[in-house]
Amino acid sequence: MSEHRLPADRSTDQPLTVRRAVEADDAALLAIDRTAWDASSGFPSYQETIKDTFFARCGPEAHLVAEYDGEVVGYLRLQDKYPFPEGAGVLTINGLAVAQSARGRGVASTLLAAAAAEGRLRDARKISLHLHSTNTAARRLYERHGYVIEGTHPNEFLIEGTYTASVDMAKTL
Ligand SMILES: CC(C)(COP(=O)(O)OP(=O)(O)OC[C@H]1O[C@@H](n2cnc3c(N)ncnc32)[C@H](O)[C@@H]1OP(=O)(O)O)[C@@H](O)C(=O)NCCC(=O)NCCS
Repeated sequence: MSEHRLPADRSTDQPLTVRRAVEADDAALLAIDRTAWDASSGFPSYQETIKDTFFARCGPEAHLVAEYDGEVVGYLRLQDKYPFPEGAGVLTINGLAVAQSARGRGVASTLLAAAAAEGRLRDARKISLHLHSTNTAARRLYERHGYVIEGTHPNEFLIEGTYTASVDMAKTL
């Protein structure tokens, strides 16, 4: 689907590839999900709701996975935002996570580039997403990829004793 390279400090020079997820990725994606979401990136309560199957909520077809040297190192869930025709053309990223050991090497950037390419192939005009105002690393990443803030919902969530805003961002394709 797309191919980039991790920097030379990786142990081998294998390409980082992005492909559609398949059922066999379930365990690897579950392992990433179990460590990715904390108070700044998601909801701590989410960990208690994670099932034994990653694809329990949403099947492989909605996921792009990044693979490095035969190992799944990240995923991006891309879905239609609305289930009705008037909202056609708006996609939403409902999850983006990278294994702790693979962070800071462009995996999420590669997945975001692949999502934009897929959006264009699907004739989408926009990709939207939500994030916590405290997730500054993710916000920087999205801004670098052309996402802009469309709105902020102050005091939307109470997370570990602190009220947190929810931020809506979107990229026009
Ligand atoms: C946010 C998250 C997805 C980013 O994944 P990532 O693969 O580390 O992201 P990237 O490597 O593409 O970019 C992150 C940083 O690495 C840097 N980077 C990218 N490519 C690089 C490379 N080849 N060499 C060194 N650094 C690089 C980027 O410049 C960026 O730095 P900065 O934003 O601090 O300036 C990841 O931290 C994560 O899974 N977090 C938990 C879940 C989460 O917050 N998801 C988003 C919810 S909205």
